[in-house]
Amino acid sequence: MTEAALILRARLNEAFAGETLKTAIVLGSGLGGLVGELDDPVHIRYSDLPDFPKSGVSGHAGEVVVGRLSGKLVMVLAGRAHYYEQGNASAMRPVLQTLKALGLEMLILTNAAGSVVQHMAPGSVMLIDDHINYSGMNPLIGEHTEARFTGMTAAYDGELKQAFRDAAQKAGETLHEGVYMWFSGPSFETPAEIRMARILGADAVGMSTVPEVILSRFLGLRVAACSVITNYGAGMSGDELSHDETKTMAPLGGQKLQKIIKILVGDIG
Ligand code: HPA
Repeated sequence: MTEAALILRARLNEAFAGETLKTAIVLGSGLGGLVGELDDPVHIRYSDLPDFPKSGVSGHAGEVVVGRLSGKLVMVLAGRAHYYEQGNASAMRPVLQTLKALGLEMLILTNAAGSVVQHMAPGSVMLIDDHINYSGMNPLIGEHTEARFTGMTAAYDGELKQAFRDAAQKAGETLHEGVYMWFSGPSFETPAEIRMARILGADAVGMSTVPEVILSRFLGLRVAACSVITNYGAGMSGDELSHDETKTMAPLGGQKLQKIIKILVGDIG
């Protein structure tokens, strides 16, 4: 068990003795609103958890919040480490290993992303059906066990995807579905790269999530992921892209995603 898991287990035993905690939700840039929806929240800063990321990206709080959502106990991870911060694709491994050690089974990842298709405008929500690892990086490089040859054919859990579709329908929100392409960042893409992404079969582009999906499958966590579309990809709108735009636009789709996740959590597991 990781040191962070021991600390979290002690805090959770104090606050929620005997309750089961199966689901964790990672919040992307500007999607922190979900934290305010939790009942009886317990906050633990990443800085108090050994090996948790020291996130330097604004729009990411850097805390674990455990509380009740739709009556179910969930763990919200407000803040993630990105490959582009230190060039470390496995930066989230200690976090995900901690979830596994605590007995969590499901991980819901959220992110802010750029759309590369006209029909998916900023403010949309996209369920990630599959991904393309365009960065070429892999968080399992250096792993020595046979488990490194992790199958990715059904990386995004089929039952969780269906639960997302059902929850979106109940929420009355449109849920797009598509392929997310991971670019390393931190610079945004060029217009030529966005055209390439479209030709290669991507619907959205972003700088996170894929390494976490790979690590989750390696560790045996079931995973689903959703993007909030904050902008059209470079060259599609004529505007220059910025992280400020990402943060300003994220709450638009973020509120829709929040509604969907609230229903989803009540319905799953
Ligand atoms: N590209 C990459 N990452 C992003 C974008 C984008 O256009 N928007 C939000 N995150």
